[in-house]
Amino acid sequence: MNVKYEELSPLGTYEEGMPWNPVEKIIVERRSIRSFKKEPLPDSMIRRILEAGRFAPSAGNSQPWRFIVVKSREILAEMEKDAIRVIKFFMFFLDYTTGNRVRRIIARFYAAVLIRILPNELHPVPFGLMSQIAQGKTPVFHAAPILILLVEDRRGVSNPPMDIGICGQNMVLAAHSLGAGACWIGLIKVLMYLPKWRKKFGIKYPYKLDVCLAMGWQKPKADGPVPREAQVVEWYDKGLNDPPRTTKQGE
Ligand SMILES: Cc1cc2nc3c(=O)[nH]c(=O)nc-3n(C[C@H](O)[C@H](O)[C@H](O)COP(=O)(O)O)c2cc1C
Repeated sequence: MNVKYEELSPLGTYEEGMPWNPVEKIIVERRSIRSFKKEPLPDSMIRRILEAGRFAPSAGNSQPWRFIVVKSREILAEMEKDAIRVIKFFMFFLDYTTGNRVRRIIARFYAAVLIRILPNELHPVPFGLMSQIAQGKTPVFHAAPILILLVEDRRGVSNPPMDIGICGQNMVLAAHSLGAGACWIGLIKVLMYLPKWRKKFGIKYPYKLDVCLAMGWQKPKADGPVPREAQVVEWYDKGLNDPPRTTKQGE
């Protein structure tokens, strides 16, 4: 798309080819931040970010969420340690990319069975990440000084996980717009295998914890942009029986 970056357009207006407005700029420039300074964001700023989440839309306005902010260094360190422990345990049985040949064959069998049962959890991307974590090559929570846990209330109308996603993304964009960095962390769910953490955060029916946001001031070194696929979009803008025209979004 032919958009100029030098200046920003005012909010609430549109003209073809005009520069991004501040909201669009934040959306397109946001990146997952995985490298944080030690000091946390001020509480007033965290509350402002939470407010962006509170204002998110949800099906039937059911607002199926509860927010937990973790800033205690002691708790954060314990969460990291336990998450690594659980991931190492799973990878001991499942990681068919490491170890000798016999180990790999057995692990491949276990992984094949589990991928059938939990196809999303063991998709190659989380699998690769878990393998790296088990080998001590990367942390789970990226040493972030703040975690915002997005606790889902399963009694929400229609599709509560979708509402959680919308709510969290409001927070991520707000954080970015205020100069902070954030990264979604789906791997927090491994802590839910440990009763200690379920108890600590009050995660029992109707609540579920599948995701959190790691947040803080980003270190100057940030990850580079991640490529996006171009999307073929179908436009039905003629008659009932006319085929759609297609455009390629992102080229
Ligand atoms: C629901 C969800 C869970 C994620 N979980 C993790 C995670 O556990 N660890 C991590 O480093 N990144 C995680 N990410 C970040 C993605 O890897 C990242 O958004 C994606 O690679 C695109 O990069 P970008 O956010 O920089 O545009 C998650 C993202 C989402 C939306």
